[in-house]
Amino acid sequence: MKNTTVNTLQQYKINQEKFSCITSYDAIFTRHVNLAGIDTILVGDSLGMVLQGHDSTIPVTIDDMCYHVQSVARGNSRCLIIADMPFMSYSDTPTAVKNATALMQAGAHMVKIEGGQWLCPTISTLVCGGIPVCAHIGLTPQTVNILGGYKVQGRNAQQAEQLLNDAQALEKAGAQLLVMECVPSQVAANVDKALHIPTIGIGAGPDTTGQVLVIHDMLGLNPQPAKFVKNFMQDATSIPEALANYHNAVRSGAFPQPEHGFN
Ligand code: KIV
Repeated sequence: MKNTTVNTLQQYKINQEKFSCITSYDAIFTRHVNLAGIDTILVGDSLGMVLQGHDSTIPVTIDDMCYHVQSVARGNSRCLIIADMPFMSYSDTPTAVKNATALMQAGAHMVKIEGGQWLCPTISTLVCGGIPVCAHIGLTPQTVNILGGYKVQGRNAQQAEQLLNDAQALEKAGAQLLVMECVPSQVAANVDKALHIPTIGIGAGPDTTGQVLVIHDMLGLNPQPAKFVKNFMQDATSIPEALANYHNAVRSGAFPQPEHGFN
């Protein structure tokens, strides 16, 4: 299997093919994710909740992220590694440059930041410096206290238009990938259609270019999974088999089904 690069993801979009992404935070899971054929790994700041036991991603630090990116990079052979920039680590452009540099030097191939058009100057600077950027819109967990909870975003026409405007501005600023989290399936479909860059959905319906799930969720380890999660351990006899089934289900369009999305 070939190494996944930003060009591979762009080619998926052009060919209207689906690609898989999953979170990983350590070397051993990363080895199995690679063997399962999964295209991209997100070292998500969700590690604050699933590994560290916090009730949000806000306590996660850049040192935490670098530690886990290094662990993932050691176990990786072919996946594109996307590293989340944690809370307030990109609050202004110089801070973002310093922290994104640390993540790239730890082994990331791309960094992910949460938010809309106000991030454009930061994205342009990072990209000009050689750091690929994935933007993240919709439910942005780092702003849970502004949003008033983990809620579906973009449900009314004005919010849906705002998401589309943000997505187009982020692409224009140089973002090469866009995550959409917990947005109505039709809104996500419209955004993906309007963009040239690939998109990744989580709770965003079947029409994004790629799909991502938190690995602990898709292995059935979360006692209260969100509506958009499918437990791939249910029909598997091992973790490697569950990971391969997830990859194949995303590639074939069998996951997600309508019941995993929002209206
Ligand atoms: O931190 C994370 O794992 C994420 C995904 C849920 C998209 O941002």
